Formats: sequence, structure tokens, C-alpha cells
Amino acid sequence: MKIAVHGLGYIGLPTAALFAESGLEVVGVDISPDVIDAIRRGGPETREPGLAKMIERVVAEGCLRAVSKPEPANAHILCLPTPVDSQKRPLLRHIDAALSSVAPHLREGDLIVIESTVPPGTTEMLADKIARLRPDLPNKSIFLAHCPERAIPGAALREIAENERIIGGLCPTASEMAAALYRRISRARLNLTDARTAELCKLAENAWRDTTIAYANELSLICQKQGVDVWGLINLANRHPRVSIPKPGPGVGGHCLAVDPWFLVDAAPECTEFIQAARLRNDAMPEQTADRIEQALAHLSRPARIACLGLAYKPDTDDLRESPALAVAKILADRGHDILAVEPHIKALPPALASFGARLVSCKTALGDADAVGILVAHRAFAARRTEIALHPAVVDAVGLFSGTFGDGPTIDEAGRRIENDNVAFAKPAQDFRVDAIAMADLDRFEMRDSFRNLEDRPNAVLTE
Ligand SMILES: NC(=O)c1ccc[n+]([C@@H]2O[C@H](COP(=O)([O-])OP(=O)(O)OC[C@H]3O[C@@H](n4cnc5c(N)ncnc54)[C@H](O)[C@@H]3O)[C@@H](O)[C@H]2O)c1
Repeated sequence: MKIAVHGLGYIGLPTAALFAESGLEVVGVDISPDVIDAIRRGGPETREPGLAKMIERVVAEGCLRAVSKPEPANAHILCLPTPVDSQKRPLLRHIDAALSSVAPHLREGDLIVIESTVPPGTTEMLADKIARLRPDLPNKSIFLAHCPERAIPGAALREIAENERIIGGLCPTASEMAAALYRRISRARLNLTDARTAELCKLAENAWRDTTIAYANELSLICQKQGVDVWGLINLANRHPRVSIPKPGPGVGGHCLAVDPWFLVDAAPECTEFIQAARLRNDAMPEQTADRIEQALAHLSRPARIACLGLAYKPDTDDLRESPALAVAKILADRGHDILAVEPHIKALPPALASFGARLVSCKTALGDADAVGILVAHRAFAARRTEIALHPAVVDAVGLFSGTFGDGPTIDEAGRRIENDNVAFAKPAQDFRVDAIAMADLDRFEMRDSFRNLEDRPNAVLTE
């Protein structure tokens, strides 16, 4: 059996590699010559653990070939970008272009799988398009299914194999065919449904995450007004057995959460006020974070020199897509400040930020030269330098790098004994995200180093979403 994976990005490349590893003949199709060249040379630069070696192996064995033009295959898997336009309306031109170039190669009985996240009704629309482009094929002789991807970049190989999948065929046969295909690379449960339910299911998952983060972000604004530390509050609230509030931050980024809820809004504008409000709340957070960093500079003449720690949209990645951290840096640069960007995962600043005169510098340089420091991404590299960062007199912590165990104050155990938790130093109310610089610098009084050691023993509590 031969399959073609169209679009060899964050999702398509590990998918193609896994199918090739499973013993199928795989062609990877991409319009980017750089992507094709890198794979042909034996593997592109990738932060996916194990992927570069896997590609090198399957390319050398002849199981994976990278090509720039589609060719006939029994199954075509579309892993193409699905962004929104400036009006926040779904932009399906990549899927449309790929389908147009695949259509001439289709043969009776072929399967087309859409892995890209798409608005409801897209799979049906693509079936209609194929019928228009290939009137010579018998009616319903091409099988279509939507199998949305849930893997996270950075752990894609593991998650593609281990995450449950939704498989939504346009007909039961399409679902069965897609399930048989994915069984080759998935060890998890495959949930069969119809295409429209699968489309909506993926959007529902991402909108749920976006709206709950918007709630956390709104809480952070309320807490700021009330002089309560939001991180401690959330830690305490999450001790309720049926409450699970995510972490607030400088906004929501990436190719999925900041984009996909708009597909629901576009599909039903009249009944998605809540989803729209959540999107707007999250989109407003970079501006609010920039305001707070400026407040930390209140005592200084402006413009000031500001260190932005992190530009990526989430910890420990170089992915800058829709990054709220990048947005904060751009807003501050736009307001005339001198930006010292610290992003250990990239080698050069994106032009949109470099054009403001921002500089990519080391953490040490930034901390030494900046008037204020904004912690915008909870990279492990920054967690490892908490002590150093805390010594700076004006730090705004937008991601809770210093607050992983806020709320672990004194407790009373079952026997009525009072337990003084180690992290009590962190449990005092802070000015919203703003690190209380005097307390943070007073290492002896609060035994800060011990507390850090304790935090580092619990990396998940501090660093993951
Ligand atoms: N990245 C994620 O975390 C993630 C997770 C789940 C779902 N998704 C969804 O998966 C889809 C793909 O996302 P991604 O992050 O892998 O995108 P990406 O931007 O990393 O990769 C897309 C690739 O498609 C190529 N391409 C564009 N048009 C093409 C065409 N006509 N023919 C062949 N190749 C073409 C591009 O050159 C690029 O290499 C999106 O719909 C996204 O929403 C992404």
C-alpha cells in the first residue's frame, strides 16, 4: 500500500515518518523546496525527539520519499495549514490547492484523510469538489474521512501513537478504511463517528481550552484589582475535587487555540458570544501585560530598556506562531522602548520584531542592562535562573515562574497538626504578576534557595500547562 502525506510541517512530517516506519511506502509532498531538500538530505532540523533519526532511517531504506508534486497513492493524508484571514474567517486555500493538485491522480477506491483542523462541513465540501473535478469517477468512489490531530509539537511521535483519535468518515466505509490505516501507527482507541461530528469535536476541544484559559486570564485581572495573588488563588481553588482552572498568562498563542475557535464563530456567529468573548479576552492579554511591564517602570523616564524573557508561544519550543509573548515585545517596541529579547530556542529575531531595533541577547546581558524584566514564557532555561532573575529590581512575571507553589501555605493535617510548608515564603499576596522585588531579593529571610530547590524537584508543578 502506498500513501501520500501532503504538508510536511509540525504534524505531517512525524505522521509521514511513522507510516513509513510501519512498513508502508510513503511519499511526502510539500510545496516548500527547503522542506523537500532537508528530507532528501536525510532529515530536517527538528525539535521532535527521535524524529531526525527516524527520517534518516526511513529515507535511507527507501520507505519515505519527499516530492514537490503529488503522485498516485491509495491514501492521501492532508496535513496543511488552516489559518484565519484578517477578518478571522477560515482560510482554506492550502487545502483547496492541495486537493486540486491531487485530483488528477485519484483512482476509484482511494481514501482521502483530512488531518488539518477544519470548519464544520469541510469534508463534505471537499467531496463535492472532487465530484466536480473528476466527473469521470463513479459516484462516491473516493472515500473521505476527517481524522483530526491531537498531538503536541515536541512530543508528536509519542502522542500520535498514544492519543485516542476521532475518525469521522463521510460514510461508514470511509471510517473503517481510515481506522485500518491509523491502526498501523496508533496504539490507542480509535473512536469512529461521522465527518461533521469529528470536525466539530476537534473545534470543541480547542475552544474549551481557549475559553477556560480566558477565564483564568480574567481571574488574573480581578485578582490584580483585589491585591490577591492569582497563582495562589488558583492553586487553592484547584484543591476542590471538581475544579480545574488552567494557568493565566500573557495571552494564548500557537496555530490552534488562537485560531480554531474562530471556525466555530464563523459557523454560527449568532450563538457564539461566549466563545467570541473568550477569544477577545485572550487577544487583549498582550496589551494588558505590556501595560503592567510599563507600570513597573513608573519611576523611570521613558523610553526604557526592557528585557523580554521568552518569545515563543509556550515553554521549551522555538514556535513563534501567534505568540502572545512576541506580541508583548512588539507592543513595547511600538511604544518606543528598547527591547532586549531573550529566546534561547531561536538564532535570529523574526523580522517583525527586528525591524523595531530589538536585539536578541543572552539572559545575563538582558538582566544586566534592562530597566525592567518581563517573564513572558516559562522556559526551563529561565526556571533554572530564577535566583538571578529575582535579584533584578523590576520583574513582571506573566507566567507564574515564581509562583509554582503559591498557595502552599500553612495547612492543618488530619490529626489537627499545623504544617508549615516550605514554600510559605511564596504564599504572601503579590501585586498580581509583579514579583515583590524586595521580598524576592531577601534570600536569607525567606530561604529562597531552599524554596527554589523545592520547586525544581517538582518541575511539573511549575513548568507545564
Ligand atoms: N501544530 C500543531 O500543534 C497542531 C496540532 C493539531 C492539529 N494541527 C493542525 O494540523 C494542520 C497542519 O498544521 P502544522 O502545524 O503541521 O502546519 P505547518 O505550517 O507546520 O506545516 C504545513 C506544511 O504544509 C506545506 N504546504 C502548504 N501548502 C501546501 C500544498 N498545497 N501542498 C503541499 N504542502 C503544502 C507547507 O510548506 C508546510 O511545510 C493545521 O490544520 C493545524 O491546525 C496542528
